Amino acid sequence: MADMLGEPVADWQQASCFLNGEWGALRDAKVSVLDRGFIFGDGVYEVIAVDVFKGTAGTFQAPFRALEHFLRLQRSLDAVRIVNPLTNEQWFDLTAEVIERNPWPRQLVYVQVTRGIAKRDHPFPVGVRPTVFVSTSPWPAIPGEQIELGVTAVTHADERWLHCDIKSTSLLGNVLMKQYAIDQGASETVMVRDGFLTEGSSTNISVVKNGVVSMPPKTVHILPGITIDGIGGIALEHGIPTEVRPVPAAELRDADEIWLSSSGREVLAVVSLDGVPVGSGKPGPMYCSMHKWFQQAKRVDAEQWALQRVQRSPTTDAHTK
Ligand code: PDD
Repeated sequence: MADMLGEPVADWQQASCFLNGEWGALRDAKVSVLDRGFIFGDGVYEVIAVDVFKGTAGTFQAPFRALEHFLRLQRSLDAVRIVNPLTNEQWFDLTAEVIERNPWPRQLVYVQVTRGIAKRDHPFPVGVRPTVFVSTSPWPAIPGEQIELGVTAVTHADERWLHCDIKSTSLLGNVLMKQYAIDQGASETVMVRDGFLTEGSSTNISVVKNGVVSMPPKTVHILPGITIDGIGGIALEHGIPTEVRPVPAAELRDADEIWLSSSGREVLAVVSLDGVPVGSGKPGPMYCSMHKWFQQAKRVDAEQWALQRVQRSPTTDAHTK
């Protein structure tokens, strides 16, 4: 095992992963070409950030807001009518195990459930077991440069489907939007539908004006992000006014600050949009406070996770319902 605070010691492909009840090396894990995840993108997923913390008894790792991620997984599964193959406790156990089995202090845990393996045909197959896949990869520290100097973004019409609230593995629309940003030399694409902000290609977007943080409502147009929810809660705790309302695209042009957020990127300031500086062109004072508070919130959450793991019986079978 690696030093808890050390650099990654193993190649990500050698990660130990869980596939349908078996643990093995990620590079050896195989699913059938008939898996509906492969054929139709017929599946849902979660990405959960795991950080390392110093406690009185040494260092410990914890996923951020694991319960919220598995509640959202349940919501996605319900939306696509796949029966959740595991209970939340079993998901927690699997999450703890994949973290434990792998050497990296900071990890991004990946969880995917597809409808399973069947002859290629559009209707839901009958009597098929969902494919369950849990893996992880090293999560490099978010570059200090991005935190201190911010990142750039470009805008684009949101051309995705009308179920962006489902965390579906059918991500072609998002992939194309991310590549659009990369091709423009930017870090993210901020999408606009019918004149209103929706979200980034793999992030949620918040807009700050005159000390108020505005976030688009949770409609079918955006993913209900765990990180932006965290930001909303933190803002509330610290007396920062927030508004959940449709945000006209024009407000992006006029914003004092724009933030992007996701499990992997936490919260970053967008300092340039379509080549035009946002506010001062530097991460603003509200961002700097939010970034600091977010780190504190992670720690509080991590301590709760650690406590729950201690209370949980180690003899529980994690793999079957
Ligand atoms: N993406 N919106 C979209 C379209 C996303 O793909 C994501 C996250 C978010 C932020 O959600 P959260 O704060 O719960 O991570 C918003 C993940 C990280 C991914 O697909 O890799």
